[in-house]
Amino acid sequence: MIKYIVDVNHKKEIINKNIYGHFSEHLGRCIYEGIYVGEESGIPHVNGMRTDVVEALKGIKVPVLRWPGGCFADEYHWKDGIGPKENRKKAINTHWGGVIEDNSFGTHEFMELCRQIGCEPYINGNLGSGTVQEMSEWVEYLTHDGISPMADQRRANGQDKPWEVKYFGVGNENWGCGGNMRPEYYADEYRRYQTYLRNYGNNKLYKIACGACVDDYNWTKVLMESATKFMDALTLHHYAIPGGFDNKMPALGFDEEAYYLTLKHAAFMEELLDKHIHIMDTYDKDKRIALIVDEWGSWYQVEPGTNPGFLYQQNTMRDAMIAGMTLNIFNKHADRVRMANIAQVVNVLQAVILTEGANIVLTPTYHVFDLYKVHQNARLLESFISRTEVGSKENAVWDLYESASIDESGHIHVTICNTDLKEEKVIEGILRGYKSETVKGRMLTGKMDAHNTFEHADAVKIVNLTNVMLNKDAFQLTVPPCSIVQLAFTGA
Ligand code: AHR
Repeated sequence: MIKYIVDVNHKKEIINKNIYGHFSEHLGRCIYEGIYVGEESGIPHVNGMRTDVVEALKGIKVPVLRWPGGCFADEYHWKDGIGPKENRKKAINTHWGGVIEDNSFGTHEFMELCRQIGCEPYINGNLGSGTVQEMSEWVEYLTHDGISPMADQRRANGQDKPWEVKYFGVGNENWGCGGNMRPEYYADEYRRYQTYLRNYGNNKLYKIACGACVDDYNWTKVLMESATKFMDALTLHHYAIPGGFDNKMPALGFDEEAYYLTLKHAAFMEELLDKHIHIMDTYDKDKRIALIVDEWGSWYQVEPGTNPGFLYQQNTMRDAMIAGMTLNIFNKHADRVRMANIAQVVNVLQAVILTEGANIVLTPTYHVFDLYKVHQNARLLESFISRTEVGSKENAVWDLYESASIDESGHIHVTICNTDLKEEKVIEGILRGYKSETVKGRMLTGKMDAHNTFEHADAVKIVNLTNVMLNKDAFQLTVPPCSIVQLAFTGA
């Protein structure tokens, strides 16, 4: 019997709903086809945005959406994407497949997408190949109310009132595709660019500096040393790439060793957060500056026969497990991690939605976001579970990852992942300081490579968990191998 304690007397910080954020890039079939089909499309849409995709994203309460990249951001010139569509510049998407970017999805379309989803925009500016003036004018175009060259242009393009834009990123991966900069150089550039990002009217920008690649702790140190007072957040990117970037493995048809190897890569997130946060704590004891993991998820070989530059991959229970583990890790670091954006929302990498023509599939990862949405803006609770390692000697991971929160109505939610492919886990839990009245359980379970296809869209879906027993503040449940469970308690 595995012991699990949730200490309701020990309430911690609010789990920022933006931890459940997403990322949309002009990459492959993410924006075009996946989200935006155009105003003339036969696929049901509102102002060009696919209705099925928007409804699905509303279903998981997407709180924030990052755009336009990624690497694409540092080559994106926002003025190419405004005004009459027939006049918009056609450019080459040099990063992603060399395809023509016709700029039919630009600033107005992105803001319309966010309106339809009901989420906040997170716009990533171009520091790598754009100018200070260009970035500064984008903010003016978006947020200035009075008379000004950019606000006048926005009005001429049909948007009278300024939009509210809080989250603004100053470059992306500037240590790599965003300009191959050294941290000292980027820190100075960041300071310069952000100077000219103005707060117009009531709009208050939340300035996000480009952070480290995985375990480049020196990048975090240099940025914190030299630019702390000019930023609200610093980012981190980490993907689970079994085999490594130059030797990626397939998304389907993998063995148990590859399963545990992938999970081990994903679990590295915990160590990364602890170490980057430790550095941030040295320079920012009050934890004013957030750590934003604005790219995370799995990265495999593309599906056979698809464009290698489009990064289209299938999504299995292995990916659901990555999402479940990682979101539990983020919840437990909620004092510093205040946003995260899984890459990427539709048709790219660890997508929650796949599309093919007019058809749509919700991936196992989608269902994890559905199970976990109850944690959004709830208060993290202290919790502890006893766990052991599973997998092989080389690729061992913890068998259990969990987190617990209490929401405004006093309901407690617990999410538990059993990564073990062989053993079910019989868990005996205690909600210390809480008298439970009812409990309901929901679960995602399946073989490690179970996935949804356009032919079998419901092969992996959420089912009710019927074996949870409740006795005052104690509960007991059995979590099958390769499963993710959500428990919802009422009581006081
Ligand atoms: O998500 C794909 C790419 O990965 C992003 O464009 C980039 O920021 C990262 O290297």
